Amino acid sequence: MLSSLQKYLLVPKLMRLSSNAPRDPHTAWDQYWGDIRSTGQVDDVLWDSGDDHEMLGYLEHLKRQMDPELPVVDVGCGSGSFSRRLAAYFPHVLGVDVSAQAIALARSESEGLEGISFATVDMSAPGAAQSVRTALAAAGIAGEANIFIRGVLHVLKPASRAALAEQLLPLVGRRGRVFLAETDFRGNAVEYVCHLGATRSFIPGPLAHAIRALPMPGRFGPVQRLRAFPESRWDLVEDGPAVIEARPLTSAEPEHIPGYFSVLQAR
Ligand SMILES: C[S@@+](CC[C@H](N)C(=O)[O-])C[C@H]1O[C@@H](n2cnc3c(N)ncnc32)[C@H](O)[C@@H]1O
Repeated sequence: MLSSLQKYLLVPKLMRLSSNAPRDPHTAWDQYWGDIRSTGQVDDVLWDSGDDHEMLGYLEHLKRQMDPELPVVDVGCGSGSFSRRLAAYFPHVLGVDVSAQAIALARSESEGLEGISFATVDMSAPGAAQSVRTALAAAGIAGEANIFIRGVLHVLKPASRAALAEQLLPLVGRRGRVFLAETDFRGNAVEYVCHLGATRSFIPGPLAHAIRALPMPGRFGPVQRLRAFPESRWDLVEDGPAVIEARPLTSAEPEHIPGYFSVLQAR
């Protein structure tokens, strides 16, 4: 455990590392996924533990709360690792991401799999719901859908979170539900990177890559959920604590990040 002084001394190092990250978040995400694609280092994605354990923990909620006959849209799917896991439980999974590089990677990682497709969509932009409908129609699917979101809302600014939630309303309709699981770390950015193994002399490679390339994440818990999914538009079905499992950094085991999950339906 680092002392307060040691954490404070880490600040200039973090500022130096992050100083060249693109200011535009969409550019940042696309460059990040382009690097992962070109180096083939899918195992080095910070938030991807590489195993099913976290997903298996969500299954009980997904099976109890979601209509298994509806397709699932995996919003902000990245490399599609959760999309592929979801495909075992729903008739079709559409993974969407703002980054074309992420979608190209997700497609190549999913080659040969049935019941899964991908599309590049900025889910915070006006017209996103229509783009999702068009992508579902291309897979022969019409009507309502369930939504799965993992680790996306905490990287968005509050206005983008609310805009994204608004785009989900016409997609879920009356039968679909939203399941979200997000990082809800109660501490500042320095405490967060220390939690993931950063010290003054060493920052684990996948963490350093994320700091160098991406916007600093925030947290997403009950307060942020209520702002993004207001009671006038959404009913909360269930919520509680979650554990987001990240790539092993400090030992051979996945890192555990305190998180929050909720299930929502349109009001
Ligand atoms: C931390 S990653 C999580 C990826 C994936 N959900 C997972 O858990 O493995 C966040 C993802 O959100 C995507 N993203 C960020 N803003 C987005 C937006 N406005 N619309 C769609 N995807 C977005 C990023 O490109 C990135 O792939």
